Amino acid sequence: MNRPVSNRVNQPRRAALLGAVAVTANAAFGLPVTATTPRGNADFDLHVELRATPDRVALRNGELTRVWRYHGKLLRGDPNALEASAGSYLGPIIRVRRGQHIRIDLINGLPESTITHWHGLHVPDDMDGHPRFAIAPGERYVYEFTVLDRAGTYWFHPHPHGRTGKQVFLGLAGLFLVSDDEEAALDLPTGEQDLPLVIQDRSFDGDNQLVYLNAGMETATKTRGGMMGSGGMMGGGGMMGGGMMAGMMGMFGDDILVNGRLDPSLRVERRAYRLRLLNGSNSRIYKLAWNDGTPFTVIGNDGGLLAEPLQRDYVMLAPAQRLEVWVDFARWSAGAEPVLRSLAFDGGMAMGGMMMGSSPLPDGAAFPVLRFRVGKGDSTTAPLPRRLSNVPPARARSAVNFERPKVFDLTMRMMAWGINGKSFEMLAASPLETVKLGTEEVWEFSNEGRGGMMAMAMPHSMHVHGLQFRVLGRTTSGRSARGYESVSAGLVDEGWKDTVLVMPEERVRILVRFADFAGLFLYHCHMLEHEDSGLMRNYRVVA
Ligand code: C2O
Ligand code: CU
Repeated sequence: MNRPVSNRVNQPRRAALLGAVAVTANAAFGLPVTATTPRGNADFDLHVELRATPDRVALRNGELTRVWRYHGKLLRGDPNALEASAGSYLGPIIRVRRGQHIRIDLINGLPESTITHWHGLHVPDDMDGHPRFAIAPGERYVYEFTVLDRAGTYWFHPHPHGRTGKQVFLGLAGLFLVSDDEEAALDLPTGEQDLPLVIQDRSFDGDNQLVYLNAGMETATKTRGGMMGSGGMMGGGGMMGGGMMAGMMGMFGDDILVNGRLDPSLRVERRAYRLRLLNGSNSRIYKLAWNDGTPFTVIGNDGGLLAEPLQRDYVMLAPAQRLEVWVDFARWSAGAEPVLRSLAFDGGMAMGGMMMGSSPLPDGAAFPVLRFRVGKGDSTTAPLPRRLSNVPPARARSAVNFERPKVFDLTMRMMAWGINGKSFEMLAASPLETVKLGTEEVWEFSNEGRGGMMAMAMPHSMHVHGLQFRVLGRTTSGRSARGYESVSAGLVDEGWKDTVLVMPEERVRILVRFADFAGLFLYHCHMLEHEDSGLMRNYRVVA
């Protein structure tokens, strides 16, 4: 079901075909086939126009900062489904219900090609934002799909080949929040008390402009020839502005932003909140904790609610991961200012920081993230239910390769990131990367530094497109388990995930199920500079 690369704008015929696929999938999931609303033409519960475009925003005193961002326009559906992110570069928050049939028109108002990926969603391969569907400036890509996913915190961001890191860094990202009946029955905090927190790091120059990989935005937005030469690995070369090495290690900014704002502080009432944490950073990992040692009550992971709440003294949040925590601010007195911090840990990409030579805030350093200001008033908090959701136990034995997990080595060879020694190829999937529709497999991401010393020193944040998986287990080889030990108590492997942190010298086993959609999907490291420089491959689902 390989579609030609030249298929850039949706044809009506294609749309009709996809509609049929979505309905089939709906039936397979036992979800209601979406009813058509009587008024108007559309078969959609929600129709949004999403324009990616340059803009200027006030982030610091003085000069406005030039950014790239998503602007959303509601063409059909509930006005509450689209919430603009005021005062920041972030895209709108899109709110949908499970089972809804939605259409989103991406319009490329950028000076270079782009495509948008719905991170975490289970959608057909040509709705998933694979780089082979990137559209040129001025073009439109029509997404139509049924929301099949559980309630949870998903997100969207660009995914063009070799340019994802730069485009996200310049501001392109937004939240995609799904609700469903199971979640609604729980009486979790809503409205103002349902609070998304997008955590990102950025670097600015003296004129308040974003600096990507040591190159100013003006430089970064110019297309450069790939410096890798052979193989076209850096084809397009958007990331190459600041030098190859820094690019391969990762972008680490020295300013931390929450919801697209610097020096953030938030006023909260003395009652329960649901915090939806998203690490929207290019490469930085956070080890989040309250400054006074208050433990977290974790209620959700990448793919929605956990079976039951978990306690953690701190939580690890690797690039692209989401965690939901429930917090009752009544535990602090009025006027208190609890601070969400990132704690120091080992095994971060200190090397990357060194090589960039400019970041006073290396990966693994400690810093404050967000200050809360607790208001007056008394708690009217409903207790958190002991059971949150139905998450069946992960059964490795149901995998077709239970006896022999597929091993994916995260490699660096000849100064190129790869998986099992191969860098990204637009339309290729190896026999190992070919799977059968309707089956489950055990995959193992192995970060044992095969193929070069540098691979050994770095954590990776491994993401699989188009599905949610389960984490079966981790093994650390122990040669230098210090890194692992400094983060392990904060790993949340429970529930459904689409992105998993793999520390140096670690092997992580996951259970992956290929349901509903045949086609070509990505899996890759979500440290965007690793992804852009080759730590990405396709897997092909065959019927
Ligand atoms: Cu959020 Cu392929 O990525
Ligand atoms: Cu990586």
